Amino acid sequence: MLNIAVRAARSAGDLLLRSADSVGNLRIDQKGKNDYASEVDRMAERDIINIIRAAYPDHAILAEESGQHQGNDFVWVIDPLDGTTNFLHGFPQYAVSIALKYKGRLEVAVIYDPLRDELFTAKRGGGAMLNSRRIRVTNQSTLKGALIGTGFPFKTATHLDAYLGMFRAITTDAAGIRRAGSAALDLAYVACGRLDGFWEIGTMEWDVAAGVLLIKEAGGVVTDFAFGENYLASGNIIAGNPKMHHVLYRLIEPHVTDNLK
Ligand code: IPD
Ligand code: CA
Ligand code: CA
Repeated sequence: MLNIAVRAARSAGDLLLRSADSVGNLRIDQKGKNDYASEVDRMAERDIINIIRAAYPDHAILAEESGQHQGNDFVWVIDPLDGTTNFLHGFPQYAVSIALKYKGRLEVAVIYDPLRDELFTAKRGGGAMLNSRRIRVTNQSTLKGALIGTGFPFKTATHLDAYLGMFRAITTDAAGIRRAGSAALDLAYVACGRLDGFWEIGTMEWDVAAGVLLIKEAGGVVTDFAFGENYLASGNIIAGNPKMHHVLYRLIEPHVTDNLK
């Protein structure tokens, strides 16, 4: 199943690269406030689903652009283009993200960055890899010296005050905070040690499912804002190596309002 996920992610990644030069001519739909999808998002998603369905016609699918496709206890969670706003601006940071769940548990993860030809893969219990080499989270234990990734709450202002409180608490001591624009790649970067930690409010399951398994298989910790496991449903996520996760949790927790738990 990992092989099929890799084949699908590479195929979609190639399609993104081929389309990157012609973004000016793409039809772009606005799905919501600050939320866009182009025909490339939809083509890449169709490509991924065709490859998965050809191999596993009975499996279910949850995909960002086309929603739920019914099936058995296997569910493929697909973000065909994570970082659409970057892609549409020619800002070179985006990826394909594919995860497979069985009875609700993450089993397989692939995140593919076509620009750098970086393929992040994980299998439950089998470790995490970058281009077939084993990756691990960092050992960084203090915020001082740490590089932390985040995503801004750009679709609604509902949690902006809570977010800014978290941001203030973390930016004061961290070596740096990065908002690169692809949650999937941010999580992959935590898994391979380029970032020490990450947090975001209000992600969707397809943004983070693959990245979560990568981080866990790379020795990291992922929770929601209540230190629980409900991050795929709530979208509120804290990730890092075990020590940095704890540091981030302690700084984030005082700013967590009731509707963020
Ligand atoms: C978005 C990106 C972004 C994150 C948002 C996501 P999209 O995904 O991952 O970094 O901050 O929460 O929605 O819309 O580009 O697939
Ligand atoms: Ca996404
Ligand atoms: Ca997307």
